[in-house]
Amino acid sequence: MATRASLRTLLLASLVLPALVAFATVGGVGYALARHLLEHQLGEELSAVAGACASQVSGELLLTIAPGDDRVPTRTFKHLQRQLADTKEAAAVRRVFAVDRDGGVRADTDGLPVGTHLDALAADRPELEVALAGRPVASEVLFRGEDGRLYLRGYAPVRGASGAVVGLVGVEGSASFFAPLRALVRSSLVAAGLALLALALAALWLARLLTRPIERLVRSALRIGRGDLSTAVDGAPTHELGILSRELEAMRRALADRDRQLKMMLAGVAHEVRNPLGGLELFAGLLSEELGSPSPSLDEARAHVARMRGDLGYLQRIVEDFLAFAREQPLAEADLDAGALAHSAAELVRGDAQARGVTIALETEAARLMGDEDLLRAALVNLVKNAVQASPAGAQVRVRARVQGEAARLEVEDRGPGVPAEAAERIFEPFFTTREKGTGLGLPLARKIVRAHRGELGFSSRPGETIFWIELPLASAGTRAA
Ligand SMILES: Nc1ncnc2c1ncn2[C@@H]1O[C@H](COP(=O)(O)OP(=O)(O)OP(=O)(O)O)[C@@H](O)[C@H]1O
Ligand SMILES: [Mg+2]
Repeated sequence: MATRASLRTLLLASLVLPALVAFATVGGVGYALARHLLEHQLGEELSAVAGACASQVSGELLLTIAPGDDRVPTRTFKHLQRQLADTKEAAAVRRVFAVDRDGGVRADTDGLPVGTHLDALAADRPELEVALAGRPVASEVLFRGEDGRLYLRGYAPVRGASGAVVGLVGVEGSASFFAPLRALVRSSLVAAGLALLALALAALWLARLLTRPIERLVRSALRIGRGDLSTAVDGAPTHELGILSRELEAMRRALADRDRQLKMMLAGVAHEVRNPLGGLELFAGLLSEELGSPSPSLDEARAHVARMRGDLGYLQRIVEDFLAFAREQPLAEADLDAGALAHSAAELVRGDAQARGVTIALETEAARLMGDEDLLRAALVNLVKNAVQASPAGAQVRVRARVQGEAARLEVEDRGPGVPAEAAERIFEPFFTTREKGTGLGLPLARKIVRAHRGELGFSSRPGETIFWIELPLASAGTRAA
């Protein structure tokens, strides 16, 4: 598998590289431009100085200066030499010289003998041609002097009386701007280096800021994966990571909840199963004693078998209720009437009720809803059974169905002792029961069914009047759209 670049590398590259390119481009272009402008300006100045000097020089006199004139200086030579020296001093340039059309020296502030050929001019041939054609010009190429500094030359034509160009005045000036330009380049490089360093540090800091919470989240996820559901997931600093950490924490809580519920249910099943198993063992023992006795009583034996059957039936009910509660059943939804539902649920419990001397009264009106008929009836039967079981003999249980606002409301009311305050919190927990033969799964199962239908199940209770109610969305109130 290809290794992926770390966040740190990516951030470093994405912050530092573009900055590096930008610094290099701006710096390089800026340097070239500044150098070009300064060179150009120096060239203009030097050619202007050369022009001013050349205009003072007489072409005829220049051509009269011959080799040897400098050893025993003639007046003309001295005059020209002074003119050049004055120019050198006034313009503060390094050297001023005058040459004929062939480049032979006629006077030079550096003291080159008259008649010497100035080889240095070879490099400036194109510029010399321009100057000889009659225009002041500056050399394009900087050259390094013996002192190691960079110089530029300016040339201007010297004309004879006829106006023809007979020679040139050359002026060498130092490119003194180079030192400050170099200093500028150096300080720019230092500043750019510092800026890049700062960017790199910022990238590292940012990477740390991001990777730390990610690593923490990864550790949390691993912990959850290992089954440690007790440690909360820490928050995270950025919006997106915050969402991730909140979702992870919600997932941990949901898993912990389910874990708790599962453990509670397992404990409940074990507990509930133990009682009938104990009964079975006891009656099986009694039965075998009875059968082993010299004169076994058939009636006694039947009674033991009947009790064993009772315990077996109870065991079977626990298993069935538990499966009904634990199983995720798909809803077989159809158009129903809440009144008809109440009616059929009451009918199913009526036999039990009569055995206890309890009557069931129905008050129903039409209320259409979408739902799974069997499941909803089972939920309602649980409520009616509870009400009958809570009712004293001779009392009446009322079952009502009506429309209330956007909902179909089913109510089961009894005149029993009510749900004690200390039990009110717990009656919807699986296996919570106060009845001898109850499994404690009736109410949790009923609530689960109702909630699967996007409805709610609740109760209000005081001694002598307990109402358990179910509210379900009406068919017309958008159940189909939900
Ligand atoms: N109408 C009621 N009046 C008073 N207490 C009630 C009423 N309905 C339920 N309870 C209380 O709620 C407890 C839980 O009820 P639930 O229906 O879940 O289980 P159960 O009736 O005890 O057992 P099962 O329904 O599984 O046979 C009951 O044991 C009882 O204490
Ligand atoms: Mg019950």
